[in-house]
Amino acid sequence: MITPLNRRFLLRERPAGDFDPKILERVVEPVPRPGPGQALVRNLYLSLDPTNRVWMGERASYLPPVPLGGVMRGVAVGRVIASNTPRYRVATNVLGMLGWQDYALVSDRDEFPVQTLPRFLPAPLTATLGALGVTGMTAYFGLLEVGQPGRGETVVISAAAGAVGSIAGQIAKLRGARVVGIAGTREKCDWLTRELGFDAAVCRRDADWRAQLQAACPKGVDVDFENAGGEIMEAVLDLMNRHGRVVLCGMISQYGNDDRGMAGPRNFANLLTRRIRLQGFIILDYIPRFPLAQLRMLWWMKRGRVRDRYTVVRGLDQAPRALVQLFNGENFGKLIVEIDEPNAPTAR
Ligand SMILES: NC(=O)c1ccc[n+]([C@@H]2O[C@H](COP(=O)([O-])OP(=O)(O)OC[C@H]3O[C@@H](n4cnc5c(N)ncnc54)[C@H](OP(=O)(O)O)[C@@H]3O)[C@@H](O)[C@H]2O)c1
Repeated sequence: MITPLNRRFLLRERPAGDFDPKILERVVEPVPRPGPGQALVRNLYLSLDPTNRVWMGERASYLPPVPLGGVMRGVAVGRVIASNTPRYRVATNVLGMLGWQDYALVSDRDEFPVQTLPRFLPAPLTATLGALGVTGMTAYFGLLEVGQPGRGETVVISAAAGAVGSIAGQIAKLRGARVVGIAGTREKCDWLTRELGFDAAVCRRDADWRAQLQAACPKGVDVDFENAGGEIMEAVLDLMNRHGRVVLCGMISQYGNDDRGMAGPRNFANLLTRRIRLQGFIILDYIPRFPLAQLRMLWWMKRGRVRDRYTVVRGLDQAPRALVQLFNGENFGKLIVEIDEPNAPTAR
């Protein structure tokens, strides 16, 4: 008889500096049984996000830190396989904070209740973690609500070939903006300009990247969709026009600064002298407005006006090492782990 097992990744240490996969410990436990009011979910795809690194740190951010010894927090999509609650029916797909594990127990009283997905999804399940999920919605609301680019304005996007950036750039093109992406390799830059319609792309690893950025923005910058922070943010702020907008979406270059805290740009005073509006935003605040935005995104996707791309890593055991991709820039588009069947010795 096969005994089903639950692989789980527990946070054993707080990260210091760059994320080290060794701070997550793989344990194998029996699959839990759902109690009253609970359902058991088999996880299928796990979303890997830069914010996973933030959640591992000691400081509270917009969510409390993952407790030491606790299962690593993560967004995943899964299928209900047993249920003691009418809220989650067997065979339904659900999306939410299901964690880095094969199986999750969910209940009506969870701090972050999972969302039930429609039975007939008009897109692959992976899209619920990408363009139709949190990352796509971050691009949508960040750009349209916070950045508000006008026709002919220049929008600069850092981490432009990633999950959020690649979608934000395409939406900015739909708004008639001139779109300049910043990415980590020439291959990514070519993808942005040749396939996604960006007007220009700058490789942040080129020695003359600042000069390239300036040349790509002959009329200055009106909207900075900021994903990187650090020296990239400073370079963009130096090019910004009066009354420009900074969409402070993320600061990935700073996520390893646990001891010092995340540093702001040294040319912060540009905001004052150039009358720039900077707004930080967290996508969780927009969840009630997702349905309409998702319909619009789907409409664009079906017409080929927004294209989504995924880097899919196979096997839950690969998750810790795969997360490194977000920090060394290996991923194209949305990084996802496809959860496999546990192959630990189980026969009895
Ligand atoms: N505010 C919100 O609610 C919200 C929601 C989701 C995501 N975010 C933020 O949005 C940003 C993008 O997230 P994502 O999920 O779409 O990840 P992603 O862009 O798919 O992956 C991260 C990318 O960041 C770039 N990067 C890594 N280290 C960097 C560094 N030191 N300097 C500059 N770039 C660096 C790499 O691309 P290159 O090597 O190509 O530059 C890497 O591929 C992150 O800052 C994330 O925290 C915010």
